[in-house]
Amino acid sequence: MSSFIYVINGPNLNMLGKREPEIYGNATLNDIEIMCLKIAKKNNIKLKFLQSNAEHEIINWIHNAREDASGIIINPAAYSHTSIAILDALSLFENPIIEVHISNIHKRENFRHNSYVSQKSTAIIAGFGIDGYIIALKKLIELCSK
Ligand code: DQA
Repeated sequence: MSSFIYVINGPNLNMLGKREPEIYGNATLNDIEIMCLKIAKKNNIKLKFLQSNAEHEIINWIHNAREDASGIIINPAAYSHTSIAILDALSLFENPIIEVHISNIHKRENFRHNSYVSQKSTAIIAGFGIDGYIIALKKLIELCSK
């Protein structure tokens, strides 16, 4: 696999570690990035690990992924529940997309139950904490090498 896997993180995920630890745990986004980079290295894969609080930046990264990504892992955070624009951007991407949520969004407030992004996701992982990223990455590597 010569292209990248993008791991895209949406708003407020830069605050992991400080943010509602009873829901999201104590690990930081940097801890997640280190875990993902280890797996990528082991599998000889190039990773772009990204986070933004701005919707347009996430959309631009998804557009860029069309050029150089064999798959996307995305935790769109609160944009999951609001952003048709991110769904539309993902609809332009032709390779696998795995949606990750640290928490089980279906066990939480009603407004978190719908994710627009899920309409385009190949698979969804929710409720496994930060391990969801590891599961997603391993499965995506498997899918991309088929
Ligand atoms: C989240 C769940 C979303 O509802 C929330 O807005 C987030 C994080 C998760 O990873 O569990 O910011 O995507």
